[in-house]
Amino acid sequence: MMPFKKISLILACSALILSCAQDKSGRDRELEKKIDRLVTKMTLEEKIGQMNQISSFSNQVDEELANAIRKGLVGSLINEVDPSRVNTYQKIAVEGSRLGIPLIIGRDVIHGFKTIFPIPLGLAATFNPSLVEQGARAAAVEASSTGVRWTFSPMLDISRDPRWGRIAESFGEDTYLTSVMGVAMVKGYLGDGPADPTSLASCVKHFAGYGAAEGGRDYNSTFIPERLLRNVYLPPFSAALQAGALTAMTSFNDNDGVPSTGNRFLLRDVLRDEWGFHGFVVSDWTSINEMISHGFAEDASHAAQLALKAGVDMDMMSFAYSAHLEELVKQGMVSEKLIDQAVGNILRVKFLLGLFDNPYVDEQLHDHVFYAPEHLELARKSALESMVLLANDGTLPLDAKKIRTLLVTGPLADAPYDQLGTWVFDGEEQSTVTPLEAFRERYGNEVHILYEPGLVHSRDTDPAGIRRAVAAAHRADAVLVVVGEESILSGEAHCLADLNLQGAQGELIAALASAGKPLITVVMAGRPLSIGRETERSNALLYAFHPGTMGGTALADLVFGKEVPSGKLPVTFPVSSGQIPVYYNHHRTGRPYQGNETALDDIPLKAGQTSLGNTSFYLDIGAQPLFPFGFGLSYTTFVYTNIKIDKVSCHKNDTIAVSFDLTNTGKYAASETAQLYICDKSGSVTRPVRELKRFERVSLVPGETRTLRWEMPVSELAFWNLNMEHVVEPGKFELWVAGDSASGDPVLFEVY
Ligand code: NOJ
Repeated sequence: MMPFKKISLILACSALILSCAQDKSGRDRELEKKIDRLVTKMTLEEKIGQMNQISSFSNQVDEELANAIRKGLVGSLINEVDPSRVNTYQKIAVEGSRLGIPLIIGRDVIHGFKTIFPIPLGLAATFNPSLVEQGARAAAVEASSTGVRWTFSPMLDISRDPRWGRIAESFGEDTYLTSVMGVAMVKGYLGDGPADPTSLASCVKHFAGYGAAEGGRDYNSTFIPERLLRNVYLPPFSAALQAGALTAMTSFNDNDGVPSTGNRFLLRDVLRDEWGFHGFVVSDWTSINEMISHGFAEDASHAAQLALKAGVDMDMMSFAYSAHLEELVKQGMVSEKLIDQAVGNILRVKFLLGLFDNPYVDEQLHDHVFYAPEHLELARKSALESMVLLANDGTLPLDAKKIRTLLVTGPLADAPYDQLGTWVFDGEEQSTVTPLEAFRERYGNEVHILYEPGLVHSRDTDPAGIRRAVAAAHRADAVLVVVGEESILSGEAHCLADLNLQGAQGELIAALASAGKPLITVVMAGRPLSIGRETERSNALLYAFHPGTMGGTALADLVFGKEVPSGKLPVTFPVSSGQIPVYYNHHRTGRPYQGNETALDDIPLKAGQTSLGNTSFYLDIGAQPLFPFGFGLSYTTFVYTNIKIDKVSCHKNDTIAVSFDLTNTGKYAASETAQLYICDKSGSVTRPVRELKRFERVSLVPGETRTLRWEMPVSELAFWNLNMEHVVEPGKFELWVAGDSASGDPVLFEVY
């Protein structure tokens, strides 16, 4: 073993070498010199070219695009995934343009490239960051084999509104969970570091507040005050940037009147000055020009000026920079220095990715990596861990030895494209394993699998199909119905006001229930749906989100008990869309719901001026959601005991240790996600009723008890207070360790 003194000396020397190698803002001095030298050689036109991102729409080499690249007028391509065309364009950039600056090729690799993982909302339900990291690695290996080295992911928008179609792309409603999952994805994309040819640069998006779009209507305005922005919406971004994300994308929304693409406070004050970000900022698709529609810019030239001054380095598809920046510099409306900075930021990322040294891709490589067995296995595991058991009267798991005939029905039971979910430009339905295929292939020898779709798609209303399904149900011992949403119903611009099941899916479930056979409902959807009635009518209900390529295999094994459900909800499920916004970490009100308020049905007619409780609730649906954040059942049961904190009174510089025993009291070996929540009892501003601070998936065999011990620096209780300082305020706190956000008994501690 190396003596301690020697290690310290080596560490001290390397720290010294490191500090000499870095400038005062932490950038690599040598690299900065290289960048400066290159920028000095560039004409204004070439600089603006680097700031221009163009979509490659054609499936052959486009001569106009090739010429633009040759002249140095393009810095990046989006949507080119053909390795031979990538190499052709790259060769023109590197060997045919005056300065030989390589292109950076970007693509929306959102939840897998060819091998499709569950939608990000489903990935969040795994509460398994290590699995998410491995999945992102697989996606990076597949995507980079085509020459793509930049993904527009992870999306870190806190999403408290299931009407918003893009909730599917999010990690849900919680800041801490989103931060942990965002970091995991960034690390997975990064692999051994940016220069690893299989790495993808991440693009954290959408900066910022996009998920709070009014009414859940995409592209809409947000009104997020700075304190809320900093406490809830921004932390996942700073965490992901610290983890190595090299780029950020502006969001489409305006917040309190300022479109993000023209928001200097966000893009310069916070991102660069406070967080020390050295990568580059790309606009969202045409969002520079959209500032004209917002009524924030007068025309494209004004929009270009506003975006550049605010801090947007690269223009995605507005062509506002290429059309107007040169003129704006000549007129003295923008300084060339700003352009130099933007170009420097872009070149820095290209250097870090090793594109100057290694611009080409092996055109045969993808044959070996697409759908690699280990990628499919990761997709299966992710799908398995993402599915959340929301109800079960003991019907699940089915016993393959006892069930002779299983009816598989419903519009999503055999919908290979739709189960992939939104944002799957490169996923292929022929590689998908649907539930029907999986039941037949894995259990078809033991169990007779009957299939009758009932409805052919989620918006179908054909009563004849329902009748056929019910007739088939009478011939079966159990019925499994897969309902939900086609993939087109969630994702960008695909918002819904009504969260009930579409078409006649509700009627299908009611009719199947009346057949009197054990009914298992599976929901594949891109968002939480209001499924209260369907839950009541079913013997068991599994929420599968859109589970991706291997969704069918995962589902079949869960249903027959080869595997045990372990997903937990990353978002609150509303009773109905009228209850939105409903999220677990809401602030405390002066009149909290007590649970004994008068319900609508109990109000006597002619009641007069009766007091009905005078708390914060709805007469018709109360105040509780359908299912709380963090909730998810198992085939086994878990009990939390001996919850202790090592100090009940602590200083703000202390670290507290929370310990507890977790016991599997049921009959199945299974995993549970234990969750730690806190509540700051009083502050200079009101604080949430609960906030997630830690979680861990733990696997236990029946009867096993594990003692877990989590350390938490008290500094993690800090928040942006009345004076907009990020501090821990002394006072009383409550802490819960439980299996979801609505359970557990509080333990008290104090910070002095
Ligand atoms: C618009 C979307 O908002 C963004 O998330 C995506 O990355 C870009 N289009 C590029 O496709």
